Amino acid sequence: MHTILVTGGLGFIGAHTTVALQEQGFEVIIIDNLSNTRLSVLDGITAISGKKPIFYKIDLKEKGSISQVFKAHKIAGVIHFAASKAVNESVENPLLYYQNNLTSLVNLLQVMLENDCQNIIFSSSCTVYGQADTLPINEDAPIKPAESPYGNTKQIGEEILLDTTKASVLKAIALRYFNPIGAHHSALIGELPLGVPQNLIPFVTQTAAGIRPLLSIFGADYPTIDGTAVRDYIHVVDLANAHVKAVARLLDKKQIDAFEVFNVGTGKGTSVLQVIKTFEKVNHLKLNYKIVGRRAGDITAAYADTAKANTILGWSATQSLEDALISAWKWQKKLQSSK
Ligand code: UFG
Repeated sequence: MHTILVTGGLGFIGAHTTVALQEQGFEVIIIDNLSNTRLSVLDGITAISGKKPIFYKIDLKEKGSISQVFKAHKIAGVIHFAASKAVNESVENPLLYYQNNLTSLVNLLQVMLENDCQNIIFSSSCTVYGQADTLPINEDAPIKPAESPYGNTKQIGEEILLDTTKASVLKAIALRYFNPIGAHHSALIGELPLGVPQNLIPFVTQTAAGIRPLLSIFGADYPTIDGTAVRDYIHVVDLANAHVKAVARLLDKKQIDAFEVFNVGTGKGTSVLQVIKTFEKVNHLKLNYKIVGRRAGDITAAYADTAKANTILGWSATQSLEDALISAWKWQKKLQSSK
């Protein structure tokens, strides 16, 4: 069976993808520098799948360490999650983001090519589209100037991959995620936001748990169904399965182009207020929230045209917003009880 290297495999999406790969019979090696997660995630993965992935605590900025992993194992493909992802932090410290997200990618690609590993899946983001002119957003929508250094690292990352596929044997798929939420239904793995969460769902669950007194809704004057901003919230387990499909496409040599991109979303737009109301309903609780001003850099609405992923990747989202919000709350309660 093929061995897949998952960088950032102890992060939120990486851990769920590791489980999904193991369930399909892949061997998984994880590289993670533990900068934004905990080693105990490895136990959660092992408890779900019954199989402990091989783990290396390595920082991808150390090229020599990556080489050692490739010398020690025959790696068929790489799923590259390892990256910094806080938009605000990237505005304050752009060089940290360019170093963490781009030096690492270049190092990884160099080592892959030196070791005859041709296949990579890259974590990209719908942020590359900015506020798209038409909705739903398909993969041909123009790339807009990035709102943050973080967003720019995703755009440049895609360009690095495109250029490298033209100049070498590299084959790459970039998955442009919409808004990943939820947790594994077992509540053995989930999101571990450090400090005050920037993203909506961890802030919602922490407010429900009493960790945060009040949820702020950033803007109710957008031209949307109820004035609050609209996003495409995708269950992390669905997103993980999209990676397994993408790996299979690379390994089966089914690609049409050496560099391909796919949107990964549900195709449904949901407003912030709709998320809050659904969360309250499915989890039988009340959230303390108030409307405040817009957050700088936020767009009005984004949701995916999923036709390309559906037809070419053979993937579609199967879990509902309700499923995702139930799992997110179950995970939050698990975090509280294990403190
Ligand atoms: N929101 C609130 N209150 C909060 C947090 C978020 O109202 O406390 C709102 C935001 O304003 C936005 C929506 O909830 O309208 C979703 O916000 P998130 O922060 O969860 O997600 P974003 O759509 O802002 O973030 C996504 C990706 C990032 C990417 C970013 C670029 O998760 O990786 O888009 O805009 F960088």
